[in-house]
Amino acid sequence: MYEFIPELMREAAKIMLSAHDIDNSIDSKSGDANFVTAYDVAVQNFLYKEIGARLPDAVIIGEEADDNPMDALTTKVCFIIDPIDGTTNFIHNYRFSAISVGITDGGRVVYGAVYNPYMNLLYFAERGRGAFVETPSGTLPIHVSDRDLPNALAAFGTSPYYREELGDITFERAKWLFRNTRDIRRCGSAALDLCTVASGAVDIFFEYRLSPWDFAAGSLIIEEAGGVITQFDGSPITLDKPCSILAGNNPCHTSARESGMF
Ligand code: IPD
Ligand code: CA
Ligand code: CA
Repeated sequence: MYEFIPELMREAAKIMLSAHDIDNSIDSKSGDANFVTAYDVAVQNFLYKEIGARLPDAVIIGEEADDNPMDALTTKVCFIIDPIDGTTNFIHNYRFSAISVGITDGGRVVYGAVYNPYMNLLYFAERGRGAFVETPSGTLPIHVSDRDLPNALAAFGTSPYYREELGDITFERAKWLFRNTRDIRRCGSAALDLCTVASGAVDIFFEYRLSPWDFAAGSLIIEEAGGVITQFDGSPITLDKPCSILAGNNPCHTSARESGMF
């Protein structure tokens, strides 16, 4: 069932890599500085069409769809797609964005893949089978680090579309992490943030509010890489609605939770 997905994502990524005149393809969405480009839509349409051709009964949830059947998430087999995670990076030609595809079964993510076409790195995991990255020189298993918080590299997301509501409290927590780790990063793609945690480069990541398409695939990749992903209060992440995300290796996740900051 999953084998065709990485190849499909590589095909879809050609649409991203072919982008030109992006400024003239931008539309606004609700929220602050929240944009969609014709390329987000084209990647999503391509994936819907190709998945639909192979699995006609598949339920598909996509960030750019007008109406998503979120109710199906807890009961059926569903694809959750972010056609371009890191659209602002994409618009600015920052060259750090990804396609994210998760598959859920009865409310649990059973497969996840995140593809960064600029670095040609495809992260994937199947429940119970570990997490891996396909690189130009082969497929390698990935694992979270064992660094503790004082030696950690931290990352965070700014929840940019809710900046009035969440900006100050986000930067308070980022400042605390900056003071209590080696340094802090903000990459612009939550899906890739989760993969950098899974592969041990980053040790702890947080964002106040993310949507299921941002984290469905990455959440399984982190868990299969030996990491932990929860909401700030330690409760399970929600696949049918937005939630906060605190993800890391075990020692850093525990220290962050015990600090009282999250
Ligand atoms: C966004 C990115 C960003 C995160 C935002 C997300 P999008 O996704 O993942 O890093 O900070 O919260 O919404 O809109 O580029 O798909
Ligand atoms: Ca996203
Ligand atoms: Ca997106």
